[in-house]
Amino acid sequence: MANTATLSYEGKSIELPVLEGTENEFGIDIKALRAKTNLITLDPGFKNTGSCKSAITYLDGEQGVLRYRGYDIDELANKADFLEVAYLLIFGELPNEAQLDKFLVDIKEESYIDEDLKKILESFPSAAHPMGVLSSLTSALTAFNPTSVDVESEEDMYRAITRIMGKLPVLVAWVFRKKAGLPLKYGDYALGYVENIARMMFRKPNKEYVANPIVDAALNKLLILHAEHEQNCSTSTVRIVGSSHAGLFASISAGISALWGPLHGGANQAVVEMLEAIRQDGGDTKKYMEKAKDKADPFRLMGFGHRVYKNFDPRARIIKKAADEVLADLGVVDPVLDIAKELEAEALSDPYFVDRKLYPNVDFYSGIIYRAMGISTETFTVMFALGRLPGWIAQWREMRLNKEPIGRPRQIYVGETQRNFVPLNKR
Ligand code: ACO
Repeated sequence: MANTATLSYEGKSIELPVLEGTENEFGIDIKALRAKTNLITLDPGFKNTGSCKSAITYLDGEQGVLRYRGYDIDELANKADFLEVAYLLIFGELPNEAQLDKFLVDIKEESYIDEDLKKILESFPSAAHPMGVLSSLTSALTAFNPTSVDVESEEDMYRAITRIMGKLPVLVAWVFRKKAGLPLKYGDYALGYVENIARMMFRKPNKEYVANPIVDAALNKLLILHAEHEQNCSTSTVRIVGSSHAGLFASISAGISALWGPLHGGANQAVVEMLEAIRQDGGDTKKYMEKAKDKADPFRLMGFGHRVYKNFDPRARIIKKAADEVLADLGVVDPVLDIAKELEAEALSDPYFVDRKLYPNVDFYSGIIYRAMGISTETFTVMFALGRLPGWIAQWREMRLNKEPIGRPRQIYVGETQRNFVPLNKR
C-alpha cells in the first residue's frame, strides 16, 4: 500500500502522506493541504473526516465490530464490571485488584455534592427535561470545583477524573429522584459503584432497600455497552470544548447536551415513545414502516440506522438478548417489546432498509430494559450519559495528553460579497 496519495489540481500535483492505523485503516493526512494549494476539504457531518488519532476504541461498521482498548464488546459486556471498563477506557489497561479497589475508594471520597447545588436542582420546574437539568448541574459543578485541571500533573488529572466519576452518579440519581418526587439522598458507599447507583436511584423513603441482582446486572451491562463509541457527536463535542482548555466538568456538560438530541442518545427515549404511540394506534407496524419509507413524511424509524454501522450494531444484539432475559427475570410483560421485534423483522426484510443498510442500533432495545427497571422514559438518556462518562473522560484525557490544538474547522463562505451599509431610514 502506497504511503502517499497524489492530488492534482490546476495542473499541479502534490503528495500527501497516508497514515495507517493498527487495524489497517488508512487516512490521508491533509495538514499541509492549504499551505501547499490554498484548498481546504469540505465534508458536512464529517462523514469522511478523521479528527484525531485515538487508541481507545476500534470499530468496524461494515463488520459490526466494536472493541474498547482491544477487548471485544461482547466479552466486556458479559464478563466485566462497569468500573473495570471505566478504568480500562481511561487509563488504557484493565486494573488489577489493588488498582480497582483504590479507584473505587478514591471515587467514593469525591461522591458528594455541595449542598447549595440542591437549591439549583430544586429551582427547576418539575416539567424540566432531565437531560437539560443534568447538563446544567454538571456545568454548575464547575462553580463548586473552580480549579482548572493541570494536565501536566498526573495527580491533578487523576483527581479531576475521580471527582466527576464520584459526582455524576449522585447528580443522575438526584435528577431521577426529583422527577419521581423522591427525597434527594446519598447511597451506601460500602457497595460497589453500580450497586450504589441502583440504591441511590431506587431506594424508597418508606422501605428498607433490598438490592435486586437482576437490576444491578442489567444496569452494569447497559452502562458498559454505552461506555464509549469513538468520535460520535457528543464525544467530538467533549473533545472540541476541552480543546479550548475549558475544564473537564464544562466539557462533559457540553457532551451531555450533545447526547440529548433524538438523532443521538435521545433516541432511546424517542424509540419507546414511538413504540408506545404505535401500540396506542392499534399496533399496526406496517403502517409505520410505510411512514418511515415515505420521504414526504418526517417520521423515521427511531433506533434504526447508524452513521458508522452498515451492519448489525453489535451492542444491539447484546441488548436485544438482555431485554428478553431481564423482562423474563423481572416478570415484566411489555407489549412494546413485541412491537419492536415485529418492526425489526419487517425492516430486516424490507428493500428500503436492506439497501440503505439500516439495522437496529444500541438504542432500539435499551429503553425497554430501562422501562422494565422502573426508570421513566425521560430519564433514559440520563442513564446513557452516566454510561458514556468514562468514554468522554478517556477521550478528553487523550486529547489533552496528546496536546492537540484547539478544534477549529474551516468553511467555504457562500454569503454576500462586500457591500455598503444602508442607514435604517433608507432600508
Ligand atoms: N428511518 C428511515 N429512514 C432512515 C433512517 C431511519 N431511522 N435512518 C436513515 N434513513 C435513511 C435516510 O432517509 C437516507 O435515505 P436516502 O439515502 O434515501 O436519502 C439514508 O437512510 C441514509 O441516512 P442518513 O440520515 O443520511 O444517515 P446518517 O449517517 O446521516 O444518519 C442516523 C444516521 C442519524 C443515526 C439516522 O440513521 C437516524 O436518524 N436514525 C434514527 C435516530 C437514531 O436511532 N439515532 C441513534 C443513533 S445511535 C446513537 O447515537 C447512540
